[in-house]
Amino acid sequence: LIRLNKLIAAAGIASRRHADLLIQQGRVAVNGRKVTELGLQVDPQVDLVTVDGKPTPLPAPPDCLILNKPPGYLTTVRDSFGRPTVMDLLPQLNSRVYPVGRLDKDTSGLLFFTNDGELALALTHPRHLVEKVYLAEVRGVPAKEALQRLAAGILLEDGPTAPAKLGLKSVKHGNAIISITIREGRKRQVKRMLRTIGHPVLVLRRIAFGPLTLGALPCGQWRRLFEEELAELAKLKMQLKLK
Ligand code: URA
Repeated sequence: LIRLNKLIAAAGIASRRHADLLIQQGRVAVNGRKVTELGLQVDPQVDLVTVDGKPTPLPAPPDCLILNKPPGYLTTVRDSFGRPTVMDLLPQLNSRVYPVGRLDKDTSGLLFFTNDGELALALTHPRHLVEKVYLAEVRGVPAKEALQRLAAGILLEDGPTAPAKLGLKSVKHGNAIISITIREGRKRQVKRMLRTIGHPVLVLRRIAFGPLTLGALPCGQWRRLFEEELAELAKLKMQLKLK
């Protein structure tokens, strides 16, 4: 059983708050009887819910997938200038998934998609942001102290950064590969952090988002989540909802 306003919201008709208004205005009926009481529970498989006399479509079952985003694609559902977006890399899906969080156009790696608004909200809510792991190729090789400064938190133009985890992975042709784990998701945060210590990012790739990792998924490919990953997300959603 789910609350009537949640069903109307899940069917894409209105936000939950607006659904409550529709109910109070007497525009919602369950099995042919007008309902004005908020908080009524219905069974979407059994009860016929109408808004202004029109049946609400059944909410789409939850769908979760990841994409290994190549550089050159915008993280948006639609671009008004017709530029390539991450949606161009997914097949036609009935589930209407959308990207959770964003990667810059030139950033590659793990992008998570879902049609589960509650899950998306839990994962991106500023109060409990999940860990995101990036590999950054930077110009030059940062000193240990510089990485420690970043790890402790530094001042960017939009405020201090929260503690982060940093590690020097390797050095090639005089440039370092740095792993950086952050919870926040401010615009171009990783690039701005590394620029602040004098080592601008040349290439940026996200390899993990919360419990999800890119693994061997080839660049430009997508896949649905495995059962274990869905279970991890469900657990996280419960924990985050309780916070
Ligand atoms: N930080 C950045 O600077 N860019 C991204 O795309 C993601 C995190």
